[in-house]
Amino acid sequence: MNTLVVGAGALGGVITGRLLDAGVEVALATRDRTSSDRVLTSGIRITGVGGDVMVDVNRVAPLSDYTGQSFDLVLLATKAHDAIEVASKLSGLLEPGGTLLPIQNGGVPQMLGDRLGECVLGGLSNLGATMTEPGIYEQRNAGHLLIGELAGGESERAEGVRQWLGRAVEVRVTPNLRGAVWSKLLLNCSVTTLGAVAGGTMREYITSSEGREVFEQAYDEALSVALASGARPERMIVEPIPPARSGRSVRSEEYDAWLDQILKGYGDARPSMLQDIERGRITEIDFINGYVVSIARQFSVHTPVNAAIVETVHAITRGQLAPDPSLLELILQASQ
Ligand SMILES: NC(=O)c1ccc[n+]([C@@H]2O[C@H](COP(=O)([O-])OP(=O)(O)OC[C@H]3O[C@@H](n4cnc5c(N)ncnc54)[C@H](OP(=O)(O)O)[C@@H]3O)[C@@H](O)[C@H]2O)c1
Repeated sequence: MNTLVVGAGALGGVITGRLLDAGVEVALATRDRTSSDRVLTSGIRITGVGGDVMVDVNRVAPLSDYTGQSFDLVLLATKAHDAIEVASKLSGLLEPGGTLLPIQNGGVPQMLGDRLGECVLGGLSNLGATMTEPGIYEQRNAGHLLIGELAGGESERAEGVRQWLGRAVEVRVTPNLRGAVWSKLLLNCSVTTLGAVAGGTMREYITSSEGREVFEQAYDEALSVALASGARPERMIVEPIPPARSGRSVRSEEYDAWLDQILKGYGDARPSMLQDIERGRITEIDFINGYVVSIARQFSVHTPVNAAIVETVHAITRGQLAPDPSLLELILQASQ
């Protein structure tokens, strides 16, 4: 399966390095020649979970150098906004019947599927990784890629891609990829984004009454949108529908136990969106809480808390606000 990985960042670097180390032939595309030259010189070095890797990369070049070539599989491992920008160009690099596999957070797989049709196989990553510089990576957990048809059900190509990439990284196939995307969105909308707004981890912000209130409402709104759209979110760390869900200020032992499970899984992680803000990078807010708000409009679901969160993150990236726990109270006020 002639394969191109687009993006030599944290996930693209780790996946490419592990594929090459397992003897799986793969080409890597960077945004520019400076990055490709660095990877060509340094090779790929991975430390952390899953074992260390040090491997040479022979086929690495800026994306523009691959014009005229064609691939059976293009794995799209850029951030969301770049994925949306570059995807139509990538569909031109596919063999007839070839597959474009996006693995971004948020609504990206569905958006690309709507735009480009059947060539898109849905994907998401539960694999965690960081990049120190192009070529140098750390794998942070023993996670997996989850792939599946956006239209639902099983397919030979999903199984074929699982077997091919599965020689190097764990890949699972789900017949309910859309539901899985929403399960991850529910957590990203609340855990990750609110940590970025408050400037810390979920375990820190959830201790305040405002933090808990915003979490509950952001999660509940997103869940209402998922269900209204016909998606069936599936279990991801927790059951997607919390116990004793009433929509507002839920307080019950069962709910606390459910929240505890989320805290055990994600409570101490420094949100990736906060790291993007600190580095002055574009965030993926428009594809996470912003996606929830845009789908909500189609189904006439009210999402004032998610809308206020999107505005707040935009104000932070414009430099008008700085991440701080006090912003959670402002979000509650703005959503009244
Ligand atoms: N890292 C994780 O642990 C993790 C876990 C789950 C999900 N995700 C999701 O996976 C996606 C990728 O995350 P990441 O952490 O790997 O991001 P990242 O480290 O920022 O890597 C993205 C890479 O794509 C490159 N790129 C951008 N546009 C390109 C183009 N047109 N052609 C070729 N390369 C291009 C970027 O280059 P420049 O640096 O030059 O822009 C960067 O090297 C995101 O949606 C993220 O939310 C990540």
